[in-house]
Amino acid sequence: MNNRVTSPVVASASICLAALFALAVQASALSPRDVRYSSRRIGASLYSRNCARCHGATADGKDAAPSLKAPGLTSEHIISVATNGIPTLMPAFKSKLNGRQLESVAAYVKSLK
Ligand code: HEC
Repeated sequence: MNNRVTSPVVASASICLAALFALAVQASALSPRDVRYSSRRIGASLYSRNCARCHGATADGKDAAPSLKAPGLTSEHIISVATNGIPTLMPAFKSKLNGRQLESVAAYVKSLK
């Protein structure tokens, strides 16, 4: 094939594809606020299924499990403890929840208070 003929065709086809892609991205774009909201909503459901039985429905703590509303409790700490668990006291969730799910749980817990 002759490159001088195909290049403009390929170039305009790529521009068309790029424009379509940009439109598609724009149509599905969520604002950062929407993303935080949906992450918290997913987190709320994951929290109630995995954490509430010990830490309480409102994360105020119950029996041996402490409140998760302490202001000093960072998302990183919540994710790290939930990932690895605490031997004999709390199960590890690393085989049950993926990184994004753990982030959602932490976002939800941090949104309480
Ligand atoms: C079987 C009961 C149980 C479940 C289920 C459980 N926890 Fe815990 N968790 C505990 C106990 C008990 C402790 C306190 C351990 C200690 O005294 O050191 C704790 C401690 C923690 C801490 C440390 C708090 C601090 O002040 O350092 C975090 C964070 C935490 N849990 C988050 C979670 C999250 C998030 C989930 C759900 C994904 C969860 N836990 C599920 C029982 C549980």
